[in-house]
Amino acid sequence: ARKPRLLTGDRPTGPLHLGHLVGTLQSRVKLQESHECFIIVADLHSLTTRSRRDEIARLPNHVRDVVLDMLSVGVDPGRSTIYLQSGVPAVYDIAILLQMLTPVARLSGMQSIHDMAKNAGLGDADVPLGLLGYPVLQAADILMANAELVPVGADNEIHVTLARDIALHFNDAYGQVFAVPSPTVSATPALPGVNTVAGGADRKMSKSAGNAIWLKDSPDEVARKIRTLPGPAPGESTRAPLFRFAEAFIRDADELANLHAEYDRGAIGFAAVQDRVIEALEKTLVPIRERRAEFAADQHRTEEIIVDGTITARKVAYETLGKVRDAMGL
Ligand code: ADP
Ligand code: NA
Repeated sequence: ARKPRLLTGDRPTGPLHLGHLVGTLQSRVKLQESHECFIIVADLHSLTTRSRRDEIARLPNHVRDVVLDMLSVGVDPGRSTIYLQSGVPAVYDIAILLQMLTPVARLSGMQSIHDMAKNAGLGDADVPLGLLGYPVLQAADILMANAELVPVGADNEIHVTLARDIALHFNDAYGQVFAVPSPTVSATPALPGVNTVAGGADRKMSKSAGNAIWLKDSPDEVARKIRTLPGPAPGESTRAPLFRFAEAFIRDADELANLHAEYDRGAIGFAAVQDRVIEALEKTLVPIRERRAEFAADQHRTEEIIVDGTITARKVAYETLGKVRDAMGL
């Protein structure tokens, strides 16, 4: 039997970090067993807030970074389709048609759009139509692929719900065309940042906050960044950012419980906890670095993976577009 299809991905706005690893990448790799994965590199979505020439000029590097990051954590191009959003123009056609079914008020009421505008420094009068319509384009990405499952972060769930509503509306109005997608929201608590910038450890690790450990960081950089994290008072380990890293990367529950207990009764110092966290992190990162080195050594292979994936996505999108046009009588 055909495996159910899943769509997920990233905007190419910079390299990926440990927060992405625990929040989405690890489950993405596992889901390859049970699902046919479409993994979008959503360059058009990054244009919604970054359309200046110098920003666009950085896209090819970001695309390469993100794809290398995905391959290095174990996304398998033999099983998963990694594709570039802007290389699938049938999606724009689908998006235009889906716009006809989407009330503007539904979009302008979305907190996510206001947040993105605010983060990009845009006042209400300057919000581009492309940003307002971003959730419709995302719906087109999801529906063109007939994705049944869409793993997302909590802030993105509302967009998948819109895609779901559009699919139901379309199927009801014109006949059964689209699979009806469901969001799955990551249950992993957000990984905090490191303290390389003031207050970095009090916020979640994020691409733009200057507080990230990148997947491509060297062992020395990883260790140096972990050692910036502030030490909690003994007895307060459960609240400390360093222990969030311990929880995310020390797999053995007993070992983790011991680490808390030993620190809280003063049996070991903060440096020892840092050492244990660094060791656990390296266990995860060593195979990732090895795979990255393999893929990075053959630039053409990475490009070929993107081109092949995009060709596959194009075929699927044109098929879906044909069905949409037929159903609507165009
Ligand atoms: P984009 O710019 O592509 O929207 P984000 O940086 O917002 O990417 O992250 C995409 C997803 O990665 C989030 O929705 C979340 O699931 C996961 N993620 C990002 N940062 C973290 C973090 N610090 N901890 C856990 N998960 C994270
Ligand atoms: Na971000």
